[in-house]
Amino acid sequence: MISEALQKARDFEEKYGAFIPPEKRPAFHLTPRVGWMNDPNGFSLYKGEYHLFYQYHPYSVQWGPMHWGHAVSRDLLRWEYLPAALAPDAPYDAGGCFSGGAVELPDGRQMLIYTGVKRERQDDGVCQDIQTQCVAFGDGLNYEKCPANPVIDDRQIPAGFSRADFRDPKLWREADGSFRCVVGNRTDDGSGAVLLFESTDGVSWKFSAILDRCWNEFGRMWECPDFFPLDGKQILMCSPQDMSAVGMEFHNGDCTMFLIGRYDPASHQFEREGVQAVDYGLDFYAPQTLLTPDGRRIMIAWMQNWDTCTAHPSDARWFGQMTILRELDFRDGRVVQNPVRELERYHGRRVAYTDVPVHEEVTLQGVYGRMIDLTVTVRPMSAAGYTTFRMKVARGSQHYTSITYTPQTDTLRVSRSHAGFNRDFVHVRECFVRSRGGEIKLRVILDRYSAEIFVNDGEQALSLTFYTPQSADGISFESHGNALMNVEKYDIVMDRS
Ligand code: FRU
Repeated sequence: MISEALQKARDFEEKYGAFIPPEKRPAFHLTPRVGWMNDPNGFSLYKGEYHLFYQYHPYSVQWGPMHWGHAVSRDLLRWEYLPAALAPDAPYDAGGCFSGGAVELPDGRQMLIYTGVKRERQDDGVCQDIQTQCVAFGDGLNYEKCPANPVIDDRQIPAGFSRADFRDPKLWREADGSFRCVVGNRTDDGSGAVLLFESTDGVSWKFSAILDRCWNEFGRMWECPDFFPLDGKQILMCSPQDMSAVGMEFHNGDCTMFLIGRYDPASHQFEREGVQAVDYGLDFYAPQTLLTPDGRRIMIAWMQNWDTCTAHPSDARWFGQMTILRELDFRDGRVVQNPVRELERYHGRRVAYTDVPVHEEVTLQGVYGRMIDLTVTVRPMSAAGYTTFRMKVARGSQHYTSITYTPQTDTLRVSRSHAGFNRDFVHVRECFVRSRGGEIKLRVILDRYSAEIFVNDGEQALSLTFYTPQSADGISFESHGNALMNVEKYDIVMDRS
């Protein structure tokens, strides 16, 4: 049955989403049908199609009582909206349907799991949001919340773990058909942890293990966990809140993290061996993954961050966008990520240059655009090398976003200080890149309102958004010292079948 709250959201999005012209959205990055979007949810395959749900407040471009928006895709680049899937309409989720996961069931139904938020007065009189895990079953369009909800609550939470910060279940099925989910938590010491639960039927759950916790080392609450094998390693991915910066690996505030290790499924022991930031840019949070039928682990994230989401495009009726889908691999001790290969199907006109000398500023005929896939490889021209190489994209008479590589320090810096924002939140980020004798390869994906930069075949990724006019579509290159570069650019053309 469709509740009044869900019907209201569906009517609203259908009526007002239609007012947003497609050219005022990114072309291949998902945005909310109307209103506000944050985390990707329930990223899963169902009946051969990719389903993506998202944290959604259709009624304004601000965060509000959370619904689940819904979209579907066959190729991970072209998304079609479906009606909103969940609304906060039950006593246990009246405060919001927060993030969660989804799987296809053998009987043909799709199962969703999400965090229900409910405001409760505590014994001391203070009101607090209590978070529990809830499930719903449906046909890919309409979902019934389970009468047994909530299915995971304080009955299963081990002592010393929070009832108030207990959210974002990521769901999968094991080979024997049983269910597992990982849920983010905050422990009594005020720091992050991930709990593992198991179930045979998806409705009755029991606690299995504490997969990892941070003892106040990496932020506080660990939001939006995911847990998956990757090329012989096991990855626990999460989004820690309230981080203190760690060198140039992790920035302050809301971060994202790969915890890389080994896992023994019999004992549920995860042994952490290393940590790595997921994205080194300005706008990235709450990633979630899926295993494709051809065996690729692909990841999507909210291309925004709580610390940077105060600046909205002035005239848009949507806010928040997802990243491009990224294929993950484990290579030379790092999790690497590259845009999904499906992007190549949408490659249009190609323009390429080789061995272009760069010292003063250079522009190249045909190298411009705001919907492009651009790869630039730079190397020193002589033994003297170069001290910096800078590329400006989305460049107009007043605006640009810059990407600067400094070989001596092996640092890469992105800046959108000149990308039209009139608020002084963070606009610059810098990270270390692997030393390659002054050579660097940068792949830059632009889609109207964002840039995603993939360094050295995916060793690092940096994502950022900006909302400058589309006429700011120039690209220029400059270096101090003498560098040589190869440039290859494809337009992205979405209106071909
Ligand atoms: C992460 C998050 C989740 C929560 C959701 C609420 O961005 O805070 O932990 O489920 O957003 O919208």
